[in-house]
Amino acid sequence: MSDSNQSEFIYPSQAVIDQANVSDYEALYNYSVTDREGFWAEQADTLSWYKKWDSVLDESNAPFYKWFDGGSINIVDNAIDRHLKNANRNKMAIIWEGENGQVRNFSYNGLNREVCQFANVLKSMGVVKGDIVTIYMPQIPELVFAMLACAKIGAIHSVVYGGFSTEALASRIDDAHSRVLITADGGWRRGKQIDLKSIANDAMSRSPSVEVCICVKNNELDVEMEPSRDFWLHDLKALPIASPKCETEQTSSEDPLFILYTSGTTGSPKGMVHTHGGYAVYTSTTHRMAFDIKPEDRWWCAADPGWITGHSYIVYGPLINGATIMLYEGAPNYPYPNRWWQIVEKYGINILYTSPTAIRGLMRFGERWPQKHDLTSLRLLGSVGEPINPEAWKWYHKVIGQERCPIIDTWWQTETGGFMICPLPITPLKPGSATKPFFGNEITIVDDDGEEVGAGEEGKLIINNPWPGMARTVFKDDQRYQDLYWSKVGDKWRYLAGDSAKKDSDGYIWVIGRMDEVLKVSGYRLGTAEIESALISHPAVNEAAAIGLPHELKGNAIHTYVILKQGMVGDQKLAAELRAHVGHEMGKIATPESVEFVESLPKTRSGKIMRRVLKARALGQDEGDLSTLEE
Ligand code: WTA
Repeated sequence: MSDSNQSEFIYPSQAVIDQANVSDYEALYNYSVTDREGFWAEQADTLSWYKKWDSVLDESNAPFYKWFDGGSINIVDNAIDRHLKNANRNKMAIIWEGENGQVRNFSYNGLNREVCQFANVLKSMGVVKGDIVTIYMPQIPELVFAMLACAKIGAIHSVVYGGFSTEALASRIDDAHSRVLITADGGWRRGKQIDLKSIANDAMSRSPSVEVCICVKNNELDVEMEPSRDFWLHDLKALPIASPKCETEQTSSEDPLFILYTSGTTGSPKGMVHTHGGYAVYTSTTHRMAFDIKPEDRWWCAADPGWITGHSYIVYGPLINGATIMLYEGAPNYPYPNRWWQIVEKYGINILYTSPTAIRGLMRFGERWPQKHDLTSLRLLGSVGEPINPEAWKWYHKVIGQERCPIIDTWWQTETGGFMICPLPITPLKPGSATKPFFGNEITIVDDDGEEVGAGEEGKLIINNPWPGMARTVFKDDQRYQDLYWSKVGDKWRYLAGDSAKKDSDGYIWVIGRMDEVLKVSGYRLGTAEIESALISHPAVNEAAAIGLPHELKGNAIHTYVILKQGMVGDQKLAAELRAHVGHEMGKIATPESVEFVESLPKTRSGKIMRRVLKARALGQDEGDLSTLEE
């Protein structure tokens, strides 16, 4: 795939070019990297500030950069408040559809009332600026309200994806030391009620910091409420404290907005910290330029708000840009494989942004499902989360976009806050390449010695500059942040993304995949260490290793190797039990495809599991350099 070079360009139509928000990539790019601060100051100027910044970029403590320092801004003032003063006030902000067909709509004015009420509820529970509130919810409007309510009062949200389970939730609550947890009784998936509250209850029993749990009623499950700790949101909203008016807190640019835990190379998930100022500038600029956002657009990012894609491109970027956002809670193929196409037609969606896994999953049902629907409202399509294979790219382009819609393949990470490599709608495309750096970014591919490799050669993807959307640190662990991501060459710091990539002779970047122990399963980011510790928490298991192997639909699937405790018998029943155990602790998405019982694991002399050897063996490939192996 990545060898395919410049041959196959797909050009945008004149109609796309005519309405582009940015009409000359090269010129603006050259300006943005020559005068980076000038470029970002102009973008920041489009937002609403209580007080403008003293410096655009403060490099005095690199790699702990500060953006727009000295400025006072609240992202909610930009995402909601300023829209209330103009024509957006009565515009639709959120259209939500539940799996059973229920619809709820909120104008910007309506959104503001909900967020204010929620913010007042949080205040009444003693939440103040700087507190970290954990949110564990299905994909319902209240999830968005909860995030915005925290931000509005200067509290920091830590959203845990609703597909995660007990241990994943408990460890994240613990690390953040949250006193308040916001959850729901449950969600809906394929017509079934998914019980979240009992998972939350189990997690709270493992993480004692939670004193208050606010629960949203979303289905008919009979859930256990602990009277001194748990409150229904609808009860609290009925109290006089929950007025629909609430002042937005004037936070500083560098005040933390949220923590989002993500898997890293080793150990427990890291809480990546993002801020009010730079993140607001970065998400709104990338969204507006890469997706040509127009005032009348209906934007559908079909990710879950619980991941970075949802934070940046369901909630913050689009709302700052005053778009109408679509939210759907449910499976893409329920009750039939045309569910998504039905939504596109029904609501006149203009831009659809999703993952290669979702595209491959829907592609499997054939063209006849999308063909039942009028998809002519679509103007642009997007992809994120993992490399998109050219076959899926072409299907998406031809069948969904009817060769009219450019595909905006966006490469970025939880750590980057927003798009780092992506085309603009005017960019000639190559299926499978995320094309070129976004404005302000200089990206190179280097070898192990840090030297830039030649065109077409594989190497490590690095970013040579700071950007406003960058995570500022790992929560409570500055050292880990610096060690994991940054290295200094001469007097210049550079950011190591952890991905391998190639740049072809046209300067197009082809991302190949992770180089470390992070797995992308169906586009979800998981760490081998978390899966392994979930396995080890089972009484029968002595040691475990997890690897990712290619999977047609999921991109990667999890395969595990387990050494049992003495006297335990590794049979099919136990394998099934271990798979279910990981699902119970971590969440369904982490359920291993296979569990293989082994007597030993390949390790380095220092005792580190050599996952690359396991992977090579499973794929029947050369095991590479085994000089450090000690089985
Ligand atoms: C991968 C998701 C190829 C990559 C926004 C990165 C991609 C990791 C793409 C971050 C893409 C994301 N093409 N690979 N367009 N987008 N990735 O933190 O390996 O969940 O390092 O952020 O996803 O995953 P995360």
